[in-house]
Amino acid sequence: MLTEPAPAKLNLALHVRRRRDDGYHELETLFAFVADGDTVTLGEGEGFAVDGPFAGALTGESDNLVTRAAARFAAAFGVEPAGRITLTKRLPVASGLGGGSADAAATLRLLARREDIALDDPRLFACADALGSDVPACLYSRTAIGRGRGEQLQWIDGAPGTPVLLVNPGVAVSTAQVFGGWDGLDRGGLDDGDLLAVAKAGRNDLEPPALSVAPVIGEVLDLLATQRGAALARMSGSGATCFGLFDSVAARGVALEAVSAAHPDWWCLETVLL
Ligand code: C5P
Repeated sequence: MLTEPAPAKLNLALHVRRRRDDGYHELETLFAFVADGDTVTLGEGEGFAVDGPFAGALTGESDNLVTRAAARFAAAFGVEPAGRITLTKRLPVASGLGGGSADAAATLRLLARREDIALDDPRLFACADALGSDVPACLYSRTAIGRGRGEQLQWIDGAPGTPVLLVNPGVAVSTAQVFGGWDGLDRGGLDDGDLLAVAKAGRNDLEPPALSVAPVIGEVLDLLATQRGAALARMSGSGATCFGLFDSVAARGVALEAVSAAHPDWWCLETVLL
């Protein structure tokens, strides 16, 4: 039995620069990863199963990014799609944390391990790129600046251990709809400097369109931003999950208590940057 973690992705900043003719948007984004996420396991047998707290959102779906990743891998490397894949879904679905992309990337890593294929094999990158804009970043789960659709990666130094609080108000938002609501105004690229400085100086250009789809995101951001020790509060990806970066584990703990007390139905997770 082989197991791969699928760390959740954060966009510490997400600058939308331009609408492209192919329907995608040209981005400049700061990708970071956290210590928690889903898990993908490869065992004996065949087929696909989902378990974990958010399994319900995927049960009954025959076409998901994990099975598509396995099929693409088998085609690219000319191997039989053998083994039973189990996805343990711990992250909310369609939530801006790149869950599906991270699951697909973990599936590719798992199959690459089984077939003795190096992680930097260009065919593996091509599989990731074809599966979705965030899958290449998730393949390496390393702090990076992403350009293009998000697939052109430049590694940068991370800030490992930074305390993070993730908060999702329980609404699923459509990535395509949120991108479609972007106002078309290029507000400029990322600054230079260290990760947290660049993140703080940056923004998420998808916050306004996401807020018009799900106004509750504004409440999450306000609540996170007003917590003591919150160095940065922002939405990730196309939402609706928001993150707070905290000065200390203690401050993160106090913030978690405050958010849970005010909104017991919101999903919260204490974690750290990788
Ligand atoms: O690449 P992926 O399938 O994850 O993208 C989902 C949707 O998000 C796309 O169909 C597109 O509407 C939007 N998107 C975009 N620009 C990007 C990435 C995603 O417009 N750079």
